[in-house]
Amino acid sequence: MTDKPANTMWGGRFAASPAAIMEEINASIGFDKRLAPQDIAGSKAHAAMLADQHIITAADAAEIVRGLDAVKAEIDAGTFTFSRALEDVHMNVESRLKTLIGEPAGRLHTARSRNDQVATDFRLYVRDRLDGFDVAVARLQSALATKALAHAGTVMPGFTHLQPAQPVTFGHHLLAYVEMFARDRGRFADARRRLNESPLGSAALAGTSFPIDRHATAKALGFDRPMGNSLDGVSDRDFALETLSACAISAVHLSRFAEEIVIWMTPQFGFIRLSDKFTTGSSIMPQKRNPDAAELSRAKVGRIAGAFQSLLMVMKGLPLAYSKDMQEDKEVTFDALDSYGLALAAMTGMVLDLEPVPEVMAAAAGRGFSTATDIADWLVRELKMPFRDAHHVTGRIVALAESKGQTLDQLTLTDMQSVHPAITQAIFGVLSVEDSVASRLSYGGTAPQNVRKMAAEWVKRLEI
Ligand code: ARG
Repeated sequence: MTDKPANTMWGGRFAASPAAIMEEINASIGFDKRLAPQDIAGSKAHAAMLADQHIITAADAAEIVRGLDAVKAEIDAGTFTFSRALEDVHMNVESRLKTLIGEPAGRLHTARSRNDQVATDFRLYVRDRLDGFDVAVARLQSALATKALAHAGTVMPGFTHLQPAQPVTFGHHLLAYVEMFARDRGRFADARRRLNESPLGSAALAGTSFPIDRHATAKALGFDRPMGNSLDGVSDRDFALETLSACAISAVHLSRFAEEIVIWMTPQFGFIRLSDKFTTGSSIMPQKRNPDAAELSRAKVGRIAGAFQSLLMVMKGLPLAYSKDMQEDKEVTFDALDSYGLALAAMTGMVLDLEPVPEVMAAAAGRGFSTATDIADWLVRELKMPFRDAHHVTGRIVALAESKGQTLDQLTLTDMQSVHPAITQAIFGVLSVEDSVASRLSYGGTAPQNVRKMAAEWVKRLEI
């Protein structure tokens, strides 16, 4: 037994306060305090509706709204004292409201429970973050598309298996990410659409006997409609799961790009330069320039995908309706959303900062017999060879060049004709990396002409 009194919010049938360890495991204020703006917005909408429905008086509602604004001002100013004994943000706000306005504060919780309250707050919060991500990802896309336009004709090696495959342009490579991030925004928009229904008024789980107007509170909070089932209203966390899953996929895209920056930054590749703004030195090796921001962005996906997995496991097997397990939804989600936002901002900064080194890229693009496919295509086109045969003949040409320690365009016509007598001088017109990329005019292909058009379209589309 402790001497502290029972909780003033729900302590009617409790004689004593919880054990210290109970308070520690139970309290969520340490992390859910960030829901205060949403909690206050939800309470204001609820109070106004209660008055409109004549469940409380207009005078009480006005007092409540005034008091909530005062609480909000204290929180914004940093003067609000959050108390762990009051468990969570909902009870901290309400308790302060009671101190500020007295008796009317006790009427705010009519026809409401913390179960629908937290479900509403959390939805509003996640919705705000989704809206922020949409803008932030668009900014990243815009940085990528602008750089792609500037480098529509800058050749670089394209890889498969991280082995030189065929030359591509740097702009084309960057536009691949613009497409990925467009799908990510689509997933965010999709999650937002399904998220945007109001749980408020579900009360504890069964709805309420008061004549509330759930459509009014839904509208006031910018939701499309109230959720159709009160049990589902308090126990659904799909919106957080969907958001985390979309973040995890997008974080994988960030991670893949971060990995490329790390590779391109190595002296062995030397494809790009990052300024001092996004690199660090080593405390012992003076020559080092490390791409830490890219590495950390690459790593963030671990926490984000972990959060998704964590919440999925919390929700698995939970019977309807609310269980306290669900309080575990917030910390991991907050951490994941923060991590994603940070990685997004860092990667955007790096895209704006990075500069390709065209001469290094071009030289690398020519290595590794990267225009071999162009020889095969030439044999098909000019000698009407079936592609499989052309592939075989080209393989022998590559082997010859390799044995002579030469690149494909260093071979002589005689060399070529020793492999296949019908080959003519014209074949040398397809051997340069520039000719190779310029020829790939198929829709979505790497030809500078294509890339310039696509990049310009994206830049225009992304103008806000
Ligand atoms: N802090 C709680 C949470 O985050 C609020 C809901 C509490 N509901 C309850 N029935 N104890 O889930």
